[in-house]
Amino acid sequence: MKKYYVHLLLTLFMTCLFSGRSLSQSNLPQDYLSKEFHAGRREALRKLMPANSATVLFAYPLEVFSKDINYAYHPSPDLYYFSGYKETSAVLVVFKEMQHDADGDYNELFFVQQRNPSEEQWTGRRLGIEGVKSQLGFKRVYNSNEFAKFPIDLKKFKLLHDIIPNKAGNMDGLYRAFTEKSGVNPVDEELLNDLVTINARVTPRNITVAIDRVIAPKLALEAYKNNSLIQDLYSHPDSTGLAAFKAGYQAQYGGISDFNLFTDELRGIKTKEELELLRKSIKLSGIAHAEVMRAIKPAMSESELEGVFAYVHKKYGAEDEGYPPIVGAGANGCILHYIENNVTTVNNQLVLMDVGAEYHGYSADITRTIPANGKFTEEQKVIYQLVYEAQEEVFKLCKEGVPFGDLNKKAQAVLAAGLIKLGIIKQIDELRAYYPHGCSHHLGLDVHDKGSYGPLMENMVITVEPGIYIPEGSPCDKKWWNIAVRIEDDVVIGKDKCTILSLDSPRKWDEIEKLISEKSFLDAVKLPGLDR
Ligand code: GLY
Ligand code: MN
Ligand code: MN
Repeated sequence: MKKYYVHLLLTLFMTCLFSGRSLSQSNLPQDYLSKEFHAGRREALRKLMPANSATVLFAYPLEVFSKDINYAYHPSPDLYYFSGYKETSAVLVVFKEMQHDADGDYNELFFVQQRNPSEEQWTGRRLGIEGVKSQLGFKRVYNSNEFAKFPIDLKKFKLLHDIIPNKAGNMDGLYRAFTEKSGVNPVDEELLNDLVTINARVTPRNITVAIDRVIAPKLALEAYKNNSLIQDLYSHPDSTGLAAFKAGYQAQYGGISDFNLFTDELRGIKTKEELELLRKSIKLSGIAHAEVMRAIKPAMSESELEGVFAYVHKKYGAEDEGYPPIVGAGANGCILHYIENNVTTVNNQLVLMDVGAEYHGYSADITRTIPANGKFTEEQKVIYQLVYEAQEEVFKLCKEGVPFGDLNKKAQAVLAAGLIKLGIIKQIDELRAYYPHGCSHHLGLDVHDKGSYGPLMENMVITVEPGIYIPEGSPCDKKWWNIAVRIEDDVVIGKDKCTILSLDSPRKWDEIEKLISEKSFLDAVKLPGLDR
């Protein structure tokens, strides 16, 4: 009897495991985006797509961590946004118009990772065709190994896609199938994309290569070198020439890089459901910053502080961090994306902590800079106050209609005026040495999210993150050396003002000092030593 019971339980367990379901569904988070949300986003995309076009979205590849162990998989934000699918080995095709075949009408095809019980026993559950149909609401779903042979002629469509050619990995086969089916060469497309979006990587040499390899065949111009658009570009291979080329090309031949334009437009404005998740992600990240303020001691290490963040994030149900945490004491704060976090004692230094959780895909991005011993020095306080004032001034601009570029201009103006007054620089063009990054970016499924950089619009979520970094050896009084301060908050843009979402940890220097003096839940924790 007992044996039978155990067998029954085991059978039940195996059935649940291989059907992709957990024994206790009620123990899973219930606040994921709904399949209706994702379907709605595909409809919105279709509305933007031109006639006779298809958007092709690929999963990110797996990445090797160590020999036969991969990094924890992070889904492609675009594929997730438009489908809810979180696995690799997948390609989604969204058509503008209804298509027809022997099985009926369809306007999207989804090729997903095949189920495989023996692999799932090792690497986790997969939704498979049936799961994608029932849980994500797709109707035409196939295994991804059917994509190459699937009878659809992509050459018939104007194609929009998100291939990142230098990130092929296990996606290489699907990329190649796509190239064969469509005639699109992703490497060339990316070049062209860079060109027309006036991407920073565009150099005069790239422009020439792009003209020869991509534009000429694309325009099917026999004597393309006589084409006035290209002639102009050849003679002005710089941003002026590019701007003229882009305008002329769009006028004559239509858009090239519409995928990024469309996804900027859609993903840049957050829906109600997305704002809900962003609020949670940012709130719990703010709480983590506050707990780290209570916990910090000069004897702690950078990675120990990182661990406190991770604990609080996970306690609130965040799956991950939105980017590798930056916890830099003293001079390390001057390294903008410092992620070694290996200093064993932070001592009496300032610690710059740029750490944000990822909750159901949505990332927070918060920086606080705090004194490990609980007291800012006079010099640290002066720099801190300057960064704080810059941030306050930028918040005032965060409302609908203000050009995105004005935010950084304001931050630069306030920071430069302050540094000039302190005698650290003499004129504004020296500011870049101490403030080498921008003030704001979109925030969402990517920490540096998609979104347009024109006028601010209601329900955009952006960061405001001025900073001052004064490395040792800088041409100013030594008393400023190794002071690095960034204050970063996340705001949602409203019609007349913004709402700051990251106020669960203080920004003001005196409130920070007060919180550091408070007790921490970690004070009681005593772990054994490693000595034998
Ligand atoms: N954490 C990266 C950034 O602030 O942009
Ligand atoms: Mn940021
Ligand atoms: Mn940040």
